[in-house]
Amino acid sequence: MTPTSAPSPGLFIAFEGGDGAGKSTQAALLAQALSDAGRTVVRTREPGGTPVGEKLRSLVLDHGQGEIDAKTEALIFAAARAAHATQVIVPAMARGEIVLSDRYADSSIAYQGAGRGLGNDAIFQLNDWATSGLWPDLTVLLDVSPVSGRQRRTAGDNAEDRMESEPDAFHSTIRAAFLELAAAHPDRYLVLPAGDSVAELARVIKHQVMVLVAGRA
Ligand code: TYD
Repeated sequence: MTPTSAPSPGLFIAFEGGDGAGKSTQAALLAQALSDAGRTVVRTREPGGTPVGEKLRSLVLDHGQGEIDAKTEALIFAAARAAHATQVIVPAMARGEIVLSDRYADSSIAYQGAGRGLGNDAIFQLNDWATSGLWPDLTVLLDVSPVSGRQRRTAGDNAEDRMESEPDAFHSTIRAAFLELAAAHPDRYLVLPAGDSVAELARVIKHQVMVLVAGRA
C-alpha cells in the first residue's frame, strides 16, 4: 500500500523557494498560528528531518566532502527524503497532524532536475518512487530573485553552503523551474513574492492554510 492510497486525516505543507527566500521564518509563523488554533504541528526540514537524513545533509551540503557528481547528489537528496517521508511525514499525517516541511521534492526537481540538468521528469520519477507517491497538499513558493536571495542569506556574515555558493545563473534556472512547477500545478501551489513584508506573507499563508484545514474538517 502506498502512503497516499488511503485518505489521511493530516495535512502536508511544503515551503519552497530559492536560498534566502525566508521559508523558515514563514514556516515558524504558520506553525505558531496553527498551534494557536489548536492543531498539532510537526515542523521539519530537508535535507534532514531524521538521524540518517541529517547525516546525508552534511554529506551533501558541507564543503570539503570531495567530488559529488550530479546523480550522486540527486540520490543523496532522494535517500534523505525516503527516510523523511516514511519515518516522519506519513506517521504524523496518520495521527492527524499538520506537517510543515522546509523544502521537499520540488527542490530536487528545481535544483537537480533543472539546475544540474538531470531532467525534471527523471527527478520527479525518482522522488515519486522514493516517497511512494507522497506529494504535499499545498506548496508555498516564496519567489526570490538570485541577487536578493544572496543578499538576504549572506547578511550578518553567514557563510554559504555548497549549493548556495553556486553562481547567480544556477539560481536563476532554479527560480524559473519553481515557477514552472507552480504554473503546472496551480491547485497545489501558493506563489508569493519573497520581498513582501513578513507580516503580509504570514497573513496570506495563514488564510490559505485555514481554508484548506476547514475543507478537511
Ligand atoms: P538549507 O540550509 O536548508 O537552505 P535553505 O534555508 O535555503 O532551505 O540548504 C538546503 C540546500 O540544499 C539549498 O541550497 C537547496 C538544496 N537542495 C537541493 O539541491 N535539493 C533538494 O532536494 C533539497 C531538499 C535541497
